[in-house]
Amino acid sequence: MVTPQAVLEELKKVKYPGFNRDIVSFGMVKDIEVGSMGVNIILAPTTAREDVLQQIHDAVTATVRQMPGVAAVEVTVTAPEQPQRRMQQGPTGVPGVTHVIAVASGKGGVGKSTVAVNLALALIGLGKRVGLLDCDVYGPSVPLMLGLKERPKSTEDRRIIPLHKYGLTVISLGLFVEDHTPIIWRGPMINKLLTQFLREVDWGELDYLVLDLPPGTGDAQLTIVQQVPLSGGVIVTTPQDVALLDVKRGITMFQQVKAPVLGVIENMSYHICSGCGERAEIFGHGGGEAMARQFDIPLLGEIPLVRDVREAADAGKPLVLTQPDHPQSQAFRSIAARLVAEVAAHPAQVLPTIH
Ligand SMILES: Nc1ncnc2c1ncn2[C@@H]1O[C@H](COP(=O)(O)OP(=O)(O)OP(=O)(O)O)[C@@H](O)[C@H]1O
Ligand SMILES: [Mg+2]
Repeated sequence: MVTPQAVLEELKKVKYPGFNRDIVSFGMVKDIEVGSMGVNIILAPTTAREDVLQQIHDAVTATVRQMPGVAAVEVTVTAPEQPQRRMQQGPTGVPGVTHVIAVASGKGGVGKSTVAVNLALALIGLGKRVGLLDCDVYGPSVPLMLGLKERPKSTEDRRIIPLHKYGLTVISLGLFVEDHTPIIWRGPMINKLLTQFLREVDWGELDYLVLDLPPGTGDAQLTIVQQVPLSGGVIVTTPQDVALLDVKRGITMFQQVKAPVLGVIENMSYHICSGCGERAEIFGHGGGEAMARQFDIPLLGEIPLVRDVREAADAGKPLVLTQPDHPQSQAFRSIAARLVAEVAAHPAQVLPTIH
């Protein structure tokens, strides 16, 4: 007969869906009973998502069943623990914040952080009070784009004081992760940091809090958007990647948390020559528009590809501020105005925040 230790060792081979870590290291395995009738494994759920739990259930059953000497396997998933109960009641809002908007992308490198930063600043230009929460723990691109280096301080009662730049209230998770933290640990750290930052940061009174999500629309991103009631989500894409599937996944992710998709932003939509100002549609044009029509969501705008934006980003001085008349800055301003209108068009999603 097998021993519970042998079963536990075997379960270390079962990966948590979407993660590189196994279910044992996630603390999911609560008990293993080996009896004459077979093996009974008790799992504590770490997610409310039925499809993920089913996947884990099936993988555990298959893994243990193939062990020599195992006649039958039963997998029991216990009642959800505290976090799930909280989830069922719905996540609570961020103190002082009226609207939380998440910026997502199916792929990395499409310009999500560039959009999040410039959009946030354009919203300030419209007279809104705006915060930016950079949820990317893999590379501190937002601090770089805004020229921020210092780590936020905390008050005596352990509230975190956010950084302020160009009128924007900013917190970047990347600033709290030590440089030597291995990549595989960064993902799981996001949620712990995020829960803390959503509730323990002194955001002040904000009309909008923009979340710059890590690239992708998988479980990790879903867990983030589950933590707070969103007024809506925005999906950034590029013409090369007018990957319908990517946008569809983004829409599905926001639907899962019952947040409206406020629209798609097509970045690097066409090229504007920094010398002559000529416009060239090097990747073809109209993809974003066609996609928006297909999914029946607004195309919030198209942002040109220009060399200046990268230079502005690298210098920590976003283009919206340094060159307000630039076509790209105009694009960001018009997107910001459109976004405000879309948020107003979905008032049912505005949940009360707890002060
Ligand atoms: N419209 C644009 N024109 C020119 N360069 C751009 C434009 N948008 C983004 N970039 C540049 O492309 C690079 C990637 O942009 P950014 O970091 O915003 O992407 P991201 O989607 O946030 O990436 P990640 O997936 O790593 O988070 C940066 O160097 C940025 O300056
Ligand atoms: Mg980014």
